[in-house]
Amino acid sequence: MLIFIDSANIEEIKEIHEMGFLSGVTTNPTLVAKEKKGYHQVIRDICAIVDGPVSAEVLSGDYCSMMEEAKILAGLHPNVVVKIPVCSEGLKTVAKLAGLGIKTNATLVFSANQALLAARAGASYVSPFIGRIDDVSHEGINLLADIISIFQQGKIKTQIISASVRHPGHVLASSKLGAHISTIPFNVIKQIIFHPQTEEGIARFKRDWEAAVNN
Ligand code: E4P
Repeated sequence: MLIFIDSANIEEIKEIHEMGFLSGVTTNPTLVAKEKKGYHQVIRDICAIVDGPVSAEVLSGDYCSMMEEAKILAGLHPNVVVKIPVCSEGLKTVAKLAGLGIKTNATLVFSANQALLAARAGASYVSPFIGRIDDVSHEGINLLADIISIFQQGKIKTQIISASVRHPGHVLASSKLGAHISTIPFNVIKQIIFHPQTEEGIARFKRDWEAAVNN
């Protein structure tokens, strides 16, 4: 499973990128809005740091405007993947963009049937929102498992991104199930890196070495 960061914050992205395990970035309008910079500038800045797919989402809701926006976003950098919500207009946009060779990430996926339609329409990626499903007292991971199984049976090449990740358990379950990618917020990546026994081990090795050297 590849690791993406779900963030539009340049400092967070830089810090994680320097650790060498990052393969891509996903953003959404909420995340970009927090940055108080122009939408396109944020996407360009991210593309200058990470050499991998960078998802940038359309803001409009109708086919013609989504197409217009998608072409502009795709023109910002060759690594931009256009994020399109799964709805009737969105699926039509995904299909048209696939025909033009523009990569798409079908987002706001809350059912396996939505994921299947998006994949059949030509989406390069689908993003089931597992955390938001947990938020309404269902099991987001079960949705991910269903999509993985359906795509495997249909030999569907669309990449599955476990999205709306809330904690390290979501990441572990996603990788065990066989998701292609997990897009993880900065704070959850930090939670994964930290382990109290690693910290205690580092401190103990230092203590033992210094005690030996000072004797
Ligand atoms: C994924 O691409 C989305 O940006 C994201 O994971 C949404 O997560 P949230 O439910 O924490 O907003």
